[in-house]
Amino acid sequence: MGIVGAGPAGLVLGHLLHLAGIDAVVLEARSREYVEQRVRAGVLEHGTVELLKEMGVGERMERQGLVHQGVELRFAERGHRIDFDDLTGGRSITVYGQQEVVKDLIAARLDFGGELLFEVEDVEPRGIDTDSPALRFVHDGEERVLECDVIAGCDGSHGVCRDAVPEGVLSFHERIYPFAWLGILAEASPSSDELIYAHHPRGFALQSMRSPEVTRLYLQCDPDDQIEAWPDERIWDELETRLASGDFRVNRGPIFERGITPMRSFVTEPMQHGRLYLAGDAVHIVPPTGAKGLNLAVADVRVLAHGLERWFESGDDTALKAYSETCLTRVWRTQYFSWWMTTMLHRMPGDEDGFGARLQVAQLDYLCSSRAASASLAENYVGLELEL
Ligand code: FAD
Ligand code: PHB
Repeated sequence: MGIVGAGPAGLVLGHLLHLAGIDAVVLEARSREYVEQRVRAGVLEHGTVELLKEMGVGERMERQGLVHQGVELRFAERGHRIDFDDLTGGRSITVYGQQEVVKDLIAARLDFGGELLFEVEDVEPRGIDTDSPALRFVHDGEERVLECDVIAGCDGSHGVCRDAVPEGVLSFHERIYPFAWLGILAEASPSSDELIYAHHPRGFALQSMRSPEVTRLYLQCDPDDQIEAWPDERIWDELETRLASGDFRVNRGPIFERGITPMRSFVTEPMQHGRLYLAGDAVHIVPPTGAKGLNLAVADVRVLAHGLERWFESGDDTALKAYSETCLTRVWRTQYFSWWMTTMLHRMPGDEDGFGARLQVAQLDYLCSSRAASASLAENYVGLELEL
């Protein structure tokens, strides 16, 4: 097996295959230091947490991850708690940085002696329409060819595997949102124990965290904004305004990481062609409002690992053939949830008379007063059951 990309998708797939006794080589374009420091998502669904534990890579996550039984929706300067425990029959989410998951998986892979090459260049999938595909690449200045039974393209949104599929086979669906997120990490204790998603006339804000000492905060901003236009004081004042409620105060501290992320929804169909299987951000992107990107990538590779296991074990390719179809049901469900959270919580440019904002508040009011509506948010947020 050849796996391109050592993000959550490639590394989880590599480990699941290892547990099933299937050999794989993982090729990663960046250095180990780079992928272990890259700051991205932070919320793990219930099912993702259970899987990492079952795989034997959850020990540090269990010690350091923060288990949350709810989130707060804040609008019109009031907070409303969505109680996951009560609404989902005891499920929860765990706040644990994506780069920590990546570190744990890399350590586990190197531990069992699994092949993982960093800083590979010019990766090129070949012969994906044949029974003997291969990955050509350059490592340590040397050209190499890896013969594979199957190639997994887990190389993210800017990867090369998607482009290896012949023209006309794939179709693409995309929405670009007219706003972005400015995200920071600060040395400050979180101002509340759980995440706060805030709707505000000035735009969306989110308080998350990484540990009892580190807060992760996001602000809706213009997609063309430059980070230089946001000095620390402006970021903190804006957070204070948008998260305002009663005597709530945002704890401030030194900002040690900052960046602006554009927001889009994107789906590629189908997710497979010949002996190439695509997973994670390589085939779909969700806006981060529902905290789903990483979890969806993990769900894909669970389906793929299951199909590969059956195929390698008994030659039965039914599950493998159905890979794309099985995944896409969840992908579109998750796209809907992420789009819904995004459009409910962000200030929409062009809403001059505030009609859209009033509809958003009406929806939020309903969501927080109806048990059925709260339960729907809760079950999607903690993650839907994965049918294999
Ligand atoms: P990736 O994590 O992108 O991994 C792909 C890997 O492939 C990378 O390591 C890359 O270096 C490697 N690669 C690329 N091209 C090649 C090549 N040619 N050869 C070899 N290797 C290659 N989700 C959330 O839920 N919440 C968030 O707050 C959030 N913030 C994000 C911020 C940013 C800037 C980005 C880009 C994404 C964010 N996401 C967030 C989404 C989430 O991080 C992704 O959904 C998740 O990383 C998907 O995992 P993946 O393994 O599919 O892809
Ligand atoms: C994060 O902690 O980075 C985070 C939390 C919730 C989101 C997105 C990102 O919806």
